[in-house]
Amino acid sequence: MSSMRAVILVAIVVVFGLAQATLAASAKGNAEAGKKIYAESCQNCHGQTGKGDSDMAAYLTPPPANLAAKATQSKTDAQLRKVILEGRPGTAMSSYDGAFEESQLVDLLAYIRSLKP
Ligand code: HEC
Repeated sequence: MSSMRAVILVAIVVVFGLAQATLAASAKGNAEAGKKIYAESCQNCHGQTGKGDSDMAAYLTPPPANLAAKATQSKTDAQLRKVILEGRPGTAMSSYDGAFEESQLVDLLAYIRSLKP
């Protein structure tokens, strides 16, 4: 009887561990999914690789940020999220408040974090 109890205990520990691993993965976002959202909503300005090198950039002052640059990558997720949601007054970066589900925003941030200078 006590070995049965041990088996159940182990099963509970394993299931709990898996659930936590899944939660951790989703909290970090899916960069591949974020890339699709980026291609639809952000690429026109920030360029195919996020470096701010779109055709549009030549017409914008200030130009779109190079999202792969240290200046952007050194900012916190909260700071990047704020710019995306509120836009940046005085620039072409407009507010995306309400445009994305929370999970899409997390995916988008994951994609931005995957960009290499
Ligand atoms: C119409 C052009 C345009 C579009 C579309 C656009 N951006 Fe921007 N973005 C800009 C400009 C211009 C800036 C400001 C650059 C500056 O402040 O020097 C900016 C700034 C940013 C910044 C701040 C970078 C930093 O280091 O402070 C982030 C993050 C950002 N954009 C993400 C996005 C994301 C994500 C999308 C798509 C959902 C997007 N942008 C769509 C033009 C655009």
